[in-house]
Amino acid sequence: MKRVAILISGGGSNMLELLRDMAEGGYAEAVLVASNDPAAKGLEKAAAQGVPVAAVDHRPFGGDREAFEAVLTRKIDATRPDILCLAGFMRILTPGFIRRYEGRMLNIHPSLLPKYPGLHTHARALAAGDTEAGCTVHEVTAELDAGPLLGQARVPVLPGDTEDTLAARVLTLEHQLYPQVLRRFAAGDRTPVHLG
Ligand code: GRF
Repeated sequence: MKRVAILISGGGSNMLELLRDMAEGGYAEAVLVASNDPAAKGLEKAAAQGVPVAAVDHRPFGGDREAFEAVLTRKIDATRPDILCLAGFMRILTPGFIRRYEGRMLNIHPSLLPKYPGLHTHARALAAGDTEAGCTVHEVTAELDAGPLLGQARVPVLPGDTEDTLAARVLTLEHQLYPQVLRRFAAGDRTPVHLG
């Protein structure tokens, strides 16, 4: 059974969906949920489900990303994961970290990549007058939000949509997309999932 570590920074709603689906499908087990924020609400939710958790506060490291990642990597590697899922993880990773896990590290991004890499994706889609939006799961490579596509889900942008209403509609699809992609990826199948 594949061993999956999940990195979060906040509430971890995507992480919780991955935990649920792995338990349901029995195709993988969560060996760690880790965060760069000790106060991340997702940590207590994962712990409540008996999943080992870890927190490495990035702030004491200042701008020394490598030093922060050295501590985080030790905690991750101690659980011997086969797959690393970034799920609402809000730190930029160095090329060294990415190289260490390349080919087995996934991320979910709230836009239809290659449109809108980076932040504030929903505000940018609304400002552009897009009629559809969505989310993408991709393999993580050195270029930010640009690795091989593993899944995409589309939603309509509706009249009167705000950043919050659009984000909520996309998040619902994230929760469907990420587990379906993880199931395939864990089975060695990189055929992209397309929803909506
Ligand atoms: C979501 O919009 C996700 O697309 C982005 O982080 C946000 C929060 O995710 N990566 P979660 O609820 O912490 O999983």
